[in-house]
Amino acid sequence: MEVCLTPDLIHQHRLEGKLVVVVDIFRATSCIVTGLAGSHIQAIRPVSTVEECLSYGQKGYIMAGERGGIQVDGFDMGNSPLEYARLGKNSAIDTSQKVAITTTNGSTAILKSLAAREIIIGAFLNLRAVADYIIVQSRQHPLRKDDSTTGGGVLIHCAGWEGRPNLEDTLFAGALIDACAGTQGLEACGDSALLARELYRAQTSHHLQNACVNPDLRPVALESDHGKRLVRLGHADDVHFCMERDKYDIVPKLNGEGEIAVAPTG
Ligand code: MLT
Repeated sequence: MEVCLTPDLIHQHRLEGKLVVVVDIFRATSCIVTGLAGSHIQAIRPVSTVEECLSYGQKGYIMAGERGGIQVDGFDMGNSPLEYARLGKNSAIDTSQKVAITTTNGSTAILKSLAAREIIIGAFLNLRAVADYIIVQSRQHPLRKDDSTTGGGVLIHCAGWEGRPNLEDTLFAGALIDACAGTQGLEACGDSALLARELYRAQTSHHLQNACVNPDLRPVALESDHGKRLVRLGHADDVHFCMERDKYDIVPKLNGEGEIAVAPTG
């Protein structure tokens, strides 16, 4: 398993033939997982610009997203997973519509992965489901010989922040590598993958020594740049929610129409 720490480094990875897991813990991929898991939304279309999102709004899509962590003026929704979790309950938004989403980093990471064989969406909220999906896929698409120089069949693409790596996505990459450990063909490959895995293991070794199955990563996440930014913007509850593990048992996947929907399992 390879890790790309920021979309600005994606040109250094070969995408063709790979299964790419896109991750933007704070908060785009946590929103996508929550939206598709619990709110009756059938599909979410990632787009790169505010203008593109507005044009999908005219076609009946719910317009969602942020710039700098703040909801875009005129959009129906911002980029809070808790907002997605409330959809369909007391919300005035019609969840039979699809969502068009544009965010500072997360939607870019998805759109920069389009050359991959398959793109799925990861977050701590669906970590186990993603790990299980990858393990099954790795049996169906075993490594070809020529993959050995490029790191194998799975690439975790971290959204980072404006071209820089970030703590929370790197931690997730390490957690996913750790969750797949022991499966042939899913070893950590390259220094970015080792860095992510060792970061995760360093953060969790204390918990594991105390036999805690789900280590609490919230304290370290609150130290991250975007964790602090979200707290400043009044979204501390989002930070806590995004660090919850295995809340949802779904794997969102980009389809041929450019929309993300729940991947069939089994
Ligand atoms: C992003 O794409 O950068 C984010 O999801 C930002 C955020 O809303 O927290």
